[in-house]
Amino acid sequence: MDVVFQRCIHPDCGGTRAVEDTSFVCPRCGGLLDVAYDWDRLAPPKSLRAFEARWAERYDPLSFSGVWRFRDLLPFADPEKVLTIGEGQTILQRADVVAGYVGLEPGKLFLQYEGMNPSGSFKDNGMTAAFTHARMAGARRAACASTGNTSASLAVYCSATGLMKAVIFIGSGKISYGKLAQALDHGALTVQIAGDFDDAMLRVQQVAEKLGIYLVNSINPFRLEGQKTIMYRILEALRWQVPDWVVVPGGNLGNVSAFGKAFIELVELGLIERPPRLAVINAAGADTFYKLYEQNGLRWNGGRPESELRETYYRGLDADKVRASTIASAIEINRPVNLFKALRALERCGGVVREVTDQDILDAKAKVGAGGLGCEPASAASVAGTRRLRQEGVIAAGDIVACVLTGHQLKDPTATVAYHSADQQTFEQVLGQRGVRRATFANRAVQVPNDLDAIIRAIEVYS
Ligand code: F0G
Repeated sequence: MDVVFQRCIHPDCGGTRAVEDTSFVCPRCGGLLDVAYDWDRLAPPKSLRAFEARWAERYDPLSFSGVWRFRDLLPFADPEKVLTIGEGQTILQRADVVAGYVGLEPGKLFLQYEGMNPSGSFKDNGMTAAFTHARMAGARRAACASTGNTSASLAVYCSATGLMKAVIFIGSGKISYGKLAQALDHGALTVQIAGDFDDAMLRVQQVAEKLGIYLVNSINPFRLEGQKTIMYRILEALRWQVPDWVVVPGGNLGNVSAFGKAFIELVELGLIERPPRLAVINAAGADTFYKLYEQNGLRWNGGRPESELRETYYRGLDADKVRASTIASAIEINRPVNLFKALRALERCGGVVREVTDQDILDAKAKVGAGGLGCEPASAASVAGTRRLRQEGVIAAGDIVACVLTGHQLKDPTATVAYHSADQQTFEQVLGQRGVRRATFANRAVQVPNDLDAIIRAIEVYS
């Protein structure tokens, strides 16, 4: 057996592929693959504190990277093969104002700001890993379907390294301007499909297979290896203490799958004693995971999930012509490709799933912006979900909670400006049709004539 290989997630199947393989489907059952390591023949650290030595080596791009300074926990590539653009320089910020909003005690809520990545979202954590693997496999073109952030990330890695051509599939009119701007500016071949993300996802898999293009969607297990490091950085910022909860928005369910794998491995390696609990938050208009997990009782069941529940649910969506619809366009997904990996993560980490409305999301987003660094709508689902779980008493007021803020505030200015706008028409056009009725935390711009006295009066009144 190789030291590193790809292995089917279903324990009864046992299908494997070589580490360089780029098909990303189990050869036996067509299921999802993990990157698997024979840890006995590798050199995992004896304690998480060992990583602190890397802080003194920041002149080395591999140790500067917030992904690759943890390379011993994702040892699938030779260090010389690694492609990094300085991703993962993110911060875990204590957020007391937001803690008050969600009902946690001061000092208990932390926001993991993944918007600080080079392309402005958490995707760069995974993209550096997938890109490194693509280079190992000799790929010349890389493709993805995207709600905008994966495509922006891919476009940045292609333009920054000049090693591959980016081909991106997006649903027509489905991605926010900030993200579309990135894809275009970085020179990606941008294919707008008359359909939504779920359509684009299906097509990109067909095209990648036919044309031999390297696929960087999160069905690619190497992407998820990179995303594990978001959890290592949270532990690092908490001085290696495990929080009680990690809360994350759910779209294609790559993140929760990666986080689950990270914690399962850390427990197996004896580096932590227990995993945190995981909470995945869906938007109510794109809530397949919530429905299947919390309402239909679909479980990983030790590797034997009742897959028929999913097929029946999807047939129902088709029959009723249901399409995902939410202002949080990043998570406007009804057929999450990592569903089974996510179920495994929840089983091993005692997980829950909740859904929140677009109203909840935008209110939480405004609170995040007013109390910290700001995020895009999908990211605020984690905060809105935490608030819900506090109201239900599932999360206790004294629990330590880390919410992952997945994308930067400037990714979707349209939603933000509409929320804060005093113009009823703008509000209605962008948000009203989504069922958003109020902007409780709006910060309206003040209109004044171009007159010094009037300007001064306005400032005195409002500040
Ligand atoms: N938050 C943001 C900002 C995202 O862009 C995404 C996914 C998610 C959350 C959900 O993460 O898929 O791991 O559950 N965006 C993908 C994209 C689908 O194409 O950019 P997930």
